[in-house]
Amino acid sequence: MSDRYAVIGRPINHTKSPLIHGLFAEATGQALEYGAIEGELEGFEAQVLQLRSEGGLGMNITAPFKLRAFELADRRSERAQLARAANALKFEDGSIYAENFDGIGLLRDIEQNLGEPLRNRRVLLLGAGGAVRGALLPFLQAGPRELVIANRDMAKALTLRNELDHPRLRISRYEELDGQAFDIVVNATSASLTGELPPLPAGVLGGARLAYELAYGKGLTPFLRMAQAHGVARLADGVGMLVEQAAEAFAWWRGVRPETRAVIDRLTIPLE
Ligand code: ATR
Repeated sequence: MSDRYAVIGRPINHTKSPLIHGLFAEATGQALEYGAIEGELEGFEAQVLQLRSEGGLGMNITAPFKLRAFELADRRSERAQLARAANALKFEDGSIYAENFDGIGLLRDIEQNLGEPLRNRRVLLLGAGGAVRGALLPFLQAGPRELVIANRDMAKALTLRNELDHPRLRISRYEELDGQAFDIVVNATSASLTGELPPLPAGVLGGARLAYELAYGKGLTPFLRMAQAHGVARLADGVGMLVEQAAEAFAWWRGVRPETRAVIDRLTIPLE
């Protein structure tokens, strides 16, 4: 029997993880089985433990269970702790290890696939939810000149700032961004899921080299349209992040790093 893994979330029917990990397994010659589990609001923890008791070796976790997965684990990486969320678990030596690869996946996509290293750049992250929490540590480690977090709810941004005091990290209200310029702007709010636009002052996107929308497969969201209207050279959605976080998990579980380019190409839905 081959080694077992699965993604769990609710709803889970649109997940690309079995496809991605299946392609990675094929390309690296690893024998594994990767399924998808519809999580139960009452019984999520029992479902995780059941997979483990059946010999499962790891899981990916998606909404709305990332916090519960984090809490279920016995050991947590530093980035999972800062994110207060796990998107990957590993079952090993009787322990449940929690990781969060969302932020590093995003960083790898921006730096390696899109060719925009963060070093010495001014970077703007919109939002202060789970997605931003996951990105903070890897982004700061990449050495930006400044990393600014803008959020409507300043109390949430302030909490983040208090948890991670770093000389390059700044929080801001949206209106305070007026007149400022950034090299890279990442929309990590959930605004695009409802077709909304974060209240970004018009000129902020003006000089940007890259506008990145975390949502995957939503086409030209209001944020990307705004970036396009301001002549931003490069527009990207979250397909690369999705594949890169999967590659991180695969390497963590299997000790082999898969190539991501062909998988990203296969999953890319043109923005227009
Ligand atoms: P996730 O885990 O996907 O980050 P979350 O933790 O629910 O989701 O956080 C959602 C983020 O999107 C929050 O930062 C939220 O901003 P507030 O904290 O100010 O509410 C942000 N968000 C959602 N809709 C938005 C909108 N229309 N404009 C700007 N920010 C929005």
